Amino acid sequence: MRNLFNFSPRGVAIDLGTANTVVYSAGTGIVISEPSVVAMETGRDGIRRVRAIGDDAKLMMGKTPGNVETIRPLRSGVIADLDVAEEMIKHFIRKAHGGPSRFSRGPEVVISIPSCATPVERRAIRQAVSNAGADRVSLLEEPMAAAIGAGLPVTDPIGSMVVDIGGGTTEVGVISLQGLAYCCSTRVGGDRMDEAIISYVRRNYNLMIGEGTAERVKIEIGTAAPPAKGTGLETYVRGRDVTRGIPREFPLDQLQIAEALSEPVQRIVAVVRSALENTQPEIAADVLDEGITLTGGGSLLRDIAIVLADETGLPVRVADDPLTCVARGAGRTLEDAVYRGGLMAA
Ligand SMILES: Nc1ncnc2c1ncn2[C@@H]1O[C@H](COP(=O)(O)OP(=O)(O)OP(=O)(O)O)[C@@H](O)[C@H]1O
Ligand SMILES: [Mg+2]
Repeated sequence: MRNLFNFSPRGVAIDLGTANTVVYSAGTGIVISEPSVVAMETGRDGIRRVRAIGDDAKLMMGKTPGNVETIRPLRSGVIADLDVAEEMIKHFIRKAHGGPSRFSRGPEVVISIPSCATPVERRAIRQAVSNAGADRVSLLEEPMAAAIGAGLPVTDPIGSMVVDIGGGTTEVGVISLQGLAYCCSTRVGGDRMDEAIISYVRRNYNLMIGEGTAERVKIEIGTAAPPAKGTGLETYVRGRDVTRGIPREFPLDQLQIAEALSEPVQRIVAVVRSALENTQPEIAADVLDEGITLTGGGSLLRDIAIVLADETGLPVRVADDPLTCVARGAGRTLEDAVYRGGLMAA
């Protein structure tokens, strides 16, 4: 449990992601990084209650008995299940504080939102954070948070491009003078890559594998560029034979997974290209020098930076610790007044 004297009461920043929720406590740093998953249990009285949240709930995915259901309350970065999302936010804010009732007032919360979120979706997120006990809620657009977290010169009159490849979406933002000069997004990210692996295996081997297995394969051997023949990694997976209905183990190699992932990877390339085409010429000229910075868990896919560099002709780098970039960037707005200009107040 967190020591009271170590805790800065100045607030928390939350990156409420489709796949992971990351919480940054001002003055301390990242305090939580857990899957955005909630396990709900229906009791004998018919009432649904929270059984587990985060890491514990993800372990239950695909393995629950009939009265327990694992829910991912976000889809494409926006809230899909309001009640469950609220329970999850409440749990994580409490956990960041180290207990439920240490403070008479709730914390100030900065929460990141997809730049394409509609006014209704923005209100829903703000309301959920408020209901979870926050005293003051500010919203920060994700590309801005990612750019601050990646250490880009967001307050200067220099254009920088950030591409955040998350679980649900890939967002491209071009930032200059603390504003979003251009942004666009596509509903393609890590989840879509997992689905592509599942359908590849089903199509080619007549085998059903689960989401968790597909994600493991992607992380272990996934790549955006096919390896030279005979040089790739290999892994084993277990699935159910669709025709015979029995479980079976079989090998998959990197060349096959590169083929499976080529469609989602090309969709990501297309959205980056379209952002470059639509950026004002003076800002695009800066991007030519500064290059493109990748954030989000999807940027950890092998060779994604190389493929994007080849396809755009621009330098591409992956930010340090890309999974926590958005939360660290949002957290910086609580610590450094210089960055507060990007916040959207109530
Ligand atoms: N080494 C890796 N290689 C490929 N993908 C990875 C790797 N590590 C994590 N991922 C993927 O990154 C995704 C999660 O990234 P992240 O936490 O940035 O998403 P998110 O913020 O929750 O989603 P979104 O921003 O779309 O709401 C998952 O799909 C996960 O499988
Ligand atoms: Mg994200």
